Amino acid sequence: MEGLNLSSINQSTSRPELIDFEGISMVRYFTDEWEKVQKFQARPDDILIATYPKAGTTWVSYILELLYFHNTLPESQTSLPIFIRVPFLEAVFPEMPTGVELADKLPTTPRLIKTHLPVQLVPKSFWEQNCKVIYVARNAKDNAVSYFHFSRMVNLLPEPGNWNTFLQNFMDEKMVFGPWYDHVSGYWEKKQTYSNLHYMFFEDMVENTGREVEQLCSFLGLSTPAEEKERITKGVHFDAMKQNDMTNYSTFSHMDFKISPFMRKGKVGDWKNHFTVAQNEQFDEHYWRKMKNTTLQFHTEI
Ligand code: A3P
Repeated sequence: MEGLNLSSINQSTSRPELIDFEGISMVRYFTDEWEKVQKFQARPDDILIATYPKAGTTWVSYILELLYFHNTLPESQTSLPIFIRVPFLEAVFPEMPTGVELADKLPTTPRLIKTHLPVQLVPKSFWEQNCKVIYVARNAKDNAVSYFHFSRMVNLLPEPGNWNTFLQNFMDEKMVFGPWYDHVSGYWEKKQTYSNLHYMFFEDMVENTGREVEQLCSFLGLSTPAEEKERITKGVHFDAMKQNDMTNYSTFSHMDFKISPFMRKGKVGDWKNHFTVAQNEQFDEHYWRKMKNTTLQFHTEI
């Protein structure tokens, strides 16, 4: 982590191509160090935070950080951004240490590690070590909207085109990290046989963050005092995280906040401001076909 000069990161990196990787659409920023990712040695107390991009990864990462380290490492929350404290395992971004390097150097116990890999590509040591895995899922429509705005502002993803093109690509499963449909249902299936997986929903977090913090504590076996849980619940509110330079990605130079901020809206139902009636009908019909064999259910409004 020493020698990391975030302000010097080049903003003019050109957009990467979409590639096919093990049957999943990817960009090279997530596959360039694949062997090291696959060979990553998880420890039994590591906690893997797995999500489809834009499902609430940063939110749950920050909750976990505060639950574990609020009292012991307060200085780390004010001096290092969350993308360093919770390494993005498969990331190989220009002019930054790789996710594996950051994870290997993490001084904390547990180590909190983030991934967007679909379940079948998660390094096997996480399963062998019976690590706790926290998966956050978000309804497809809001997830697509958030991913669209994110793709506009971050130069590490392919150009999204306009909303109509992006939505069509989402349905055609041409998204970095693969189809949303397989991602959310893959981890849902895994949960049936792997009991150390806690499956959460973005919509539930918006509806009642305190309840979700409570459930996380019980999954993690933490006996955090009630006042502290309340403090944490307030600290992870959208407005607080948007103001906080260590959680709002303002120090991450591959993003252009003039196009769209990282902490954009944080709402359930913003899809209604984007989908036309025709797009919505087409999406619902396609969604039903893709998801008809799973018991997984989402709320698209609360
Ligand atoms: P929007 O683009 O809909 O606003 P990720 O961390 O996986 O990249 O997800 C980012 C999405 O989560 C963004 O959604 C962001 O605003 C939202 N988000 C992050 N922190 C949040 C919070 N504390 N409350 C509500 N939404 C939050």
